[in-house]
Amino acid sequence: MTLRLGDIAPDFEAETTEGRIRFHEWLGGSWGVLFSHPRNYTPVCTTELGYTAKLKPEFEKRNVKAIGLSVDKLEDHHGWSKDIAETQGASLNFPLIADADKKVANLYDMIHPNASDTFTVRSVFIVDPNKKIRLTLTYPASTGRNFDEVLRVIDSLQLTDKHKVATPVNWKQGDDVIIVPAVNNEDAKKLFPQGWKELKPYLRVVPQPKG
Ligand code: BEZ
Repeated sequence: MTLRLGDIAPDFEAETTEGRIRFHEWLGGSWGVLFSHPRNYTPVCTTELGYTAKLKPEFEKRNVKAIGLSVDKLEDHHGWSKDIAETQGASLNFPLIADADKKVANLYDMIHPNASDTFTVRSVFIVDPNKKIRLTLTYPASTGRNFDEVLRVIDSLQLTDKHKVATPVNWKQGDDVIIVPAVNNEDAKKLFPQGWKELKPYLRVVPQPKG
């Protein structure tokens, strides 16, 4: 199934390193980052999982739960997690789905047969508290993802859900933002009483709103 932005993230039940979960129930009112990696006991995946574990405080600050997936068995996840702790300086502190029967991988189209018909690609799904998919990313097996970028997108989504702004190229927390085109100048005066810098009528820059 092709999943698109705005679709409801399909619910599923799965075995994980933290017990059996129902995805939607497990998410509760949090944001979610569901990501697949090709397989256990591989070098790039080891670094990705270690780094994601280190980001736990950052995820918590943003009300985000991370959950990984590979098409390996639960006992392999447990064995591999020791290697992650030993080599990456962080122990797994989020659940890892054991999807040996590829049920979840197929549900989320994480197997791209022309890349590999056996293993999942590096997929990322950001899901909001309404269970809507807000971002999808697909990376090849040979390229580790930038999980700081995942956090940056969450910051942008959380900000732009709250305020009538969009974030420009390479934006990061604290940088100026852009008033969305749907807001006319009359309404913009009420929303941004401190004014804005108008580079073009459609390109109006304001400091990042607080809160
Ligand atoms: C890795 O995680 O290192 C990896 C996995 C599959 C293919 C290439 C690299």
